[in-house]
Amino acid sequence: MKTVVGNWKMKVGTRESVALARGVIMALRGKKILPEVIICPPFVAFSEVRKVVARSRVQMGAQDVFWEEEGSFTGEISPRMMSELGVTHALIGHSERRSLLNETDEMVNKKIREAKDEGLIPILCVGENQEQRAAGKDFDIVAAQLHQGLTGIRFRPKDQLYVAYEPIWAIGTGEAAHPADAVEMHSFIRKHLKEILKNNPSVKILYGGSVDGENVYSFLREPEVDGVLVGGASVKLAQFGQIINSAIEAMEGEK
Ligand code: PGA
Repeated sequence: MKTVVGNWKMKVGTRESVALARGVIMALRGKKILPEVIICPPFVAFSEVRKVVARSRVQMGAQDVFWEEEGSFTGEISPRMMSELGVTHALIGHSERRSLLNETDEMVNKKIREAKDEGLIPILCVGENQEQRAAGKDFDIVAAQLHQGLTGIRFRPKDQLYVAYEPIWAIGTGEAAHPADAVEMHSFIRKHLKEILKNNPSVKILYGGSVDGENVYSFLREPEVDGVLVGGASVKLAQFGQIINSAIEAMEGEK
């Protein structure tokens, strides 16, 4: 099963989110094989989007969550609040939050712990920047992000964890990673997670960074790539429809 996550970022308001969610459901209609589709609207749109996706196979993810259950944390949203709205997944540690809001690995770690405790499936985002890549440090950086993001968190065999490998230089730039490089990093991440996570929880590894309708199949046809995390192209219905179709094609190839 391939996974397609749409990260709508701060690109759409409630009205557009509702229209997009309807479009996603239309794009899945009549399909025999369905990929796992998770849409991440902005927080303000969840109550309305929820009505649209209710009784469909489309799931909802938060773009971020806070690390406490409740309390005096002005402006923050807890995993519990999200799960009350029917949200199943949460992006954690997206590079835009790490760089613009100084989110640290320690904060990421606390967020993953709380999200998981509330029954949300964390989608831990990792990836190196251009400088780190040029210096040949990409694997070390990703290993450190995995380590620090997941340290001390106990997973059980039935738990799920998603990791999104998003090289920062590829996000929103139109310059996606080479699929072979993504595959190499995915298999590194998979091996590394085997070492650091006990109990063998189920793990999915997604690629993100300038994925669009044109290049998506070159990632999804790789067995190492369990899915894609899509930003810009996920708020364009025609593109997102193509991405869903490519996921279906890749799943047909898996059989
Ligand atoms: P992009 O964003 O697809 O626009 O590159 C991906 C992301 O930030 O998750």
